[in-house]
Amino acid sequence: MLQVKNLKKTYVSKGKKVEAVKGITFETEKGEIFAILGPNGAGKTTTIKSILRLIIPDEGEIYINGIDVHKHPSHALKYVSAVLEGNRNIHWKMTVYENLKYFGYIRGLGGKYLKSRISEILEFVELTEKKNELAGKLSRGMQQRLAIGIALLPDTPLILLDEPTLGLDVESSLKVRQMLEKLTKDGKTILLSTHDMQLVEKVANHVLIINKGRVVVSDKKEKLLDAFKKKRFKISFLSNNGYKELEKFGTVVEENGEKILNIQIDNMEQLYEVLEHFKSKNIEIKRLESVMVNFEEVFVNIVRGDENGLS
Ligand SMILES: Nc1ncnc2c1ncn2[C@@H]1O[C@H](COP(=O)(O)OP(=O)(O)OP(=O)(O)O)[C@@H](O)[C@H]1O
Ligand SMILES: [Mg+2]
Repeated sequence: MLQVKNLKKTYVSKGKKVEAVKGITFETEKGEIFAILGPNGAGKTTTIKSILRLIIPDEGEIYINGIDVHKHPSHALKYVSAVLEGNRNIHWKMTVYENLKYFGYIRGLGGKYLKSRISEILEFVELTEKKNELAGKLSRGMQQRLAIGIALLPDTPLILLDEPTLGLDVESSLKVRQMLEKLTKDGKTILLSTHDMQLVEKVANHVLIINKGRVVVSDKKEKLLDAFKKKRFKISFLSNNGYKELEKFGTVVEENGEKILNIQIDNMEQLYEVLEHFKSKNIEIKRLESVMVNFEEVFVNIVRGDENGLS
């Protein structure tokens, strides 16, 4: 659906060069939610704006639906719509309905089709009752839903969302999340950038982590979670001798009066070594379980590893 190859962009402002994107490559599959993650300034917005041709990259190729965005921009961009960072995606002095009509015209829609499409969208983003209110008077969550509604008007197969849940409360974020899930069921491909780990954990299929303009990791979310899960174990004990030795292997916490050892390993061999040690000391193990990790931990670990030159 979308291919980005070796994308590079350096900004020059006030004589200073900022290498925002230093060669990013990725590809999305149809019908997936593809999440771009990265610390502030990693290059997420620059990547999204380059795809939309709102900024011109220095190097690299971008294909939307197989069409080269650089060579055939107006053709390629027919297949994509977007909601950018912040709240400048809507006109505050127009009503909800007027916004949809205005942006519908811009995307070349009109007549009966546009009218029925607007009704459909209003239902989908749950703003039918607010259609005659000024967009500037809506809550932040409603404004974001309107912005998404506007992006949905042209019914493009690819939708780009830059931080779709930024600044939204839990309930509004949940609504956005549910909308995204429904859209992928209809076969849409969604590329989003986000700092919202809940959103990633709940809906993303693929995760691309970038840091300082470079790709650190690109993989299916489940694979990333699994890879981390395999490395974390929780061990409880039957016999209580030798507790003082435990701290050599990891952190010890007390749960329901029981001492629990949490260990983190780089490979399975290390786990066997730990177990071997307990065996030799006659320390009996009651339970060994792999620990669930949440995506936030995965993300923080990966970025920290990158900063320390480990990955
Ligand atoms: N118009 C610009 N002129 C100069 N530098 C810029 C410009 N836009 C972005 N940058 C710089 O490029 C780098 C990447 O910025 P970008 O906005 O792509 O990051 P981001 O990953 O979207 O960050 P955030 O999570 O804060 O939104 C940053 O160092 C930023 O300061
Ligand atoms: Mg950004």
